[in-house]
Amino acid sequence: MKQRNLLFLIFKRRTVRLFKPKKVPLRVIKKLIDSARCAPSAANLQFLEYLVIDNQKLREKIFPYTRWGGYVYPKRVPPPENRPSLYIILLINKEKSKKPDLRDIGAAAENILLSLLCFGLGGCWIASIDRRMIRKILNIPKKYIIDSLIAVGIPAEFPLLENRDSVRYWLDKQERLHVPKRPLEKIFHYNTIK
Ligand SMILES: Cc1cc2nc3c(=O)[nH]c(=O)nc-3n(C[C@H](O)[C@H](O)[C@H](O)COP(=O)(O)O)c2cc1C
Repeated sequence: MKQRNLLFLIFKRRTVRLFKPKKVPLRVIKKLIDSARCAPSAANLQFLEYLVIDNQKLREKIFPYTRWGGYVYPKRVPPPENRPSLYIILLINKEKSKKPDLRDIGAAAENILLSLLCFGLGGCWIASIDRRMIRKILNIPKKYIIDSLIAVGIPAEFPLLENRDSVRYWLDKQERLHVPKRPLEKIFHYNTIK
């Protein structure tokens, strides 16, 4: 892949919270996890593991324990017909690291979020979850810390990036989501910092 194509995907990626109901093939799911597997890892300890849930009954059981789109609540809580096709649960295997460096998780999750675009998919990384209930429903052993999950599916919304020094994403009159990002000149310090 040419470098400019990767940059194109980085700028194109937006969090998606409304999906079209369609199954994602296992071969694609495996590629997503494989992209996370290759992410940088502090001391290369590789403590992350991934539990993928695409079984309909389990998806229905997990959904109530996920929180969506706080700034536009409840408009981006997906209704049953727009729910994700699968969840990737990010697990820390405590046996692999005594003091897991959480920066590993950011790197792995971003690999997944970008890889989704190569398959026409979108996703929402969700850290606001009820870990106790998700552990119970999925019978996740104690040796794993449940970090967060990534909800995945075919996008049914196409949010827009806005150059704006703000944190709150918003919906316009057509219910399209706009996501502000601080302008480059506000975050870029060159040789000196004021
Ligand atoms: C660590 C982390 C946790 C997040 N948790 C949630 C969440 O619990 N629920 C949600 O709807 N979005 C969640 N998001 C998505 C953010 O709201 C989203 O990334 C942000 O609004 C910027 O939008 P963008 O991803 O399109 O750039 C999370 C993102 C990150 C990085």
